[in-house]
Amino acid sequence: MRVLHVKRSLLIVLGIESTCDETGVAVVQDGQHILSNVIASSADIHEKYGGVFPELACRRHFEVILPLIEEAIQQAGTSPGQIDLIAVAKGPGLVGALLIGMSVAKGLSIAWNKPFLGINHIEAHLYAGMMGLPQIPFPALGVVLSGGHTLLLKILEVGHYEPLGTTVDDAIGEAFDKVAVLLGLPYPGGPPVEQMAKRGDPKKHSFSAGKIKQRPLDFSFSGLKTKVLYTLREEGVNHADVAASFQETAFKDVIHKARLATQTFPCQAIFFGGGVCNNQRLQKMFAEAFLDLPLFWPPFHLCLDNAAMIAGLGAKKFLGVGDPLDLEVQPRVVYQRKDATPPRRGENL
Ligand code: KG4
Ligand code: ZN
Repeated sequence: MRVLHVKRSLLIVLGIESTCDETGVAVVQDGQHILSNVIASSADIHEKYGGVFPELACRRHFEVILPLIEEAIQQAGTSPGQIDLIAVAKGPGLVGALLIGMSVAKGLSIAWNKPFLGINHIEAHLYAGMMGLPQIPFPALGVVLSGGHTLLLKILEVGHYEPLGTTVDDAIGEAFDKVAVLLGLPYPGGPPVEQMAKRGDPKKHSFSAGKIKQRPLDFSFSGLKTKVLYTLREEGVNHADVAASFQETAFKDVIHKARLATQTFPCQAIFFGGGVCNNQRLQKMFAEAFLDLPLFWPPFHLCLDNAAMIAGLGAKKFLGVGDPLDLEVQPRVVYQRKDATPPRRGENL
């Protein structure tokens, strides 16, 4: 176990992200100054499959991770000797992809004699909107909307969360990616669906998102996606209208459930994270619906998967002692509501 005594304000953290199809490496100083943040995406390989092909994602991580580390260190104008901590995304994500980032982090930890820390990817998405804020208003609502997750969380402080709602089937970003395939649009589907939706009428089709009996804060998008499939089979249907109606329905559902969630505690602010949060229509709809609360959206480059958020949260959570070298990756993280019975098996956030 490596113990380190460095003033937090001087801490230089190397972050590594490899949970899905993006390999990210970043160098962050004192938890907020991003000295470098480099990303290589394998989205081009997955395009023809309409979703992530795990084995191919792993091969790309393997090819690019070491050159990216060199590039990030060089761009930051630093050297391995100056790195104080290695922070790595430990999960959730694709097991093979996680193992590559984790193994490299452990290897560097041994080679450079520096501590390393495993970081929860979802928590890092939420932290992306908090990085650099002088004061964070708590308790707050966390809204994570990504390709793998749709989550509402009560944030009591950094590191202390209470899951309020999650999806029972597709994640919202996954629904965008699948609807994009149905519309003949490329992967990842969120950005082209957003563009197409701009030309369509959001009221043309009366779609609805799933409601879960007795769990009003949970989500379900698979029925909505199927409705899109059937609508597209109708003759003469305008694709832009379908894209706009789908997007509007999905976002109205998120806003409705976020509103319900803020009513369950004295909420001071809303923090957003995950790739879907880059959607301009979503940001506008939230701004109109929540005039009463400050909304914190991460900047564009920190919404999508990246290693700066991993390094930033690593700096925040590091207390001088790194994780042991036998730390395992956590591909599956279960978000356990307080009232959930029976408790589900798995790692909690
Ligand atoms: O957070 P992220 O980079 O990766 C995960 O952790 O999943 O999110 C990627 C997801 C993809 O499903 C992508 O289609 C979606 O975010 N996305 C968007 C937009 N940009 C990315 N969805 C809707 N509108 C966007 N502008
Ligand atoms: Zn992510």
